[in-house]
Amino acid sequence: MVKTRIQEKVEHLNKRENKREKAAYVRKMFNEIAGRYDIMNRLISGGIDPLWREFAITEIKLADGAKVLDVCTGTCDLAITAAKRTGAGGEVFGVDLSEGMLRVGLGKIKNVKNSPVMALSQGRAEDLPFRSDYFDVAMASCGIRNTTDIPKSFSEMMRVVKPGGVVFNLDLGHPKNKIFDKLYRFYFFNIVPIVGKLFSHSEAYSYLPNSLLTFPDQETIKKIFEDIGLKRVRYHNLLGGAMALHIGYKE
Ligand SMILES: C[S@@+](CC[C@H](N)C(=O)[O-])C[C@H]1O[C@@H](n2cnc3c(N)ncnc32)[C@H](O)[C@@H]1O
Repeated sequence: MVKTRIQEKVEHLNKRENKREKAAYVRKMFNEIAGRYDIMNRLISGGIDPLWREFAITEIKLADGAKVLDVCTGTCDLAITAAKRTGAGGEVFGVDLSEGMLRVGLGKIKNVKNSPVMALSQGRAEDLPFRSDYFDVAMASCGIRNTTDIPKSFSEMMRVVKPGGVVFNLDLGHPKNKIFDKLYRFYFFNIVPIVGKLFSHSEAYSYLPNSLLTFPDQETIKKIFEDIGLKRVRYHNLLGGAMALHIGYKE
């Protein structure tokens, strides 16, 4: 099979020896699309992506006053969803590689009503700039897929959570139904890049679907959660497995 330029690029960036190059590429890509990221998310998901975030926060029964870390927070939609639940007594931190995404997020968190303490910092999921055993929740949505080391990123999330705390990851999944999977891939590989070019003039929306090819399926992510030591690991397939929510607990 002939590979596209972008497929070759993704393969190259996913090689162990090219971690630094991948991080620089991903950071530049998100800096470029930051201003259009939210509108693109709404377009690509048909407007339903906020429901997935709500589902995740509801599923973990996020408590009033909780301390939460949103890893790969981007423009902070998940952090803000959490902040609305923790209320003023909570703490919600966001960390991301891209200063452009964080800048957009900063503008949004200023408008959260009844806001908990909220702060953003630039940093890497693979090496979180937070002390161990501090948060009640460490969460990520659609970010860990783009990191240079998926198990390391999850184990960092587990490190910063206190015993009894929860780690969750919400991301694209691999649908089980073969026909649906074909349609889903057609959509991501053929429609999304066109919408991306039209609205954000960037190759990011060709890169992102390709990042799905190397992202492990739901059972493998579950196994990674278990291997790093998370307990009572479960996952929920959303939209026929097009999205998946993995949840695990630190004991
Ligand atoms: C697809 S966006 C998701 C943003 C947000 N979580 C959401 O659900 O809309 C992926 C984000 O992950 C960030 N990211 C990618 N690799 C990262 C890394 N190694 N460490 C921290 N952030 C990273 C990107 O800068 C980008 O903001």
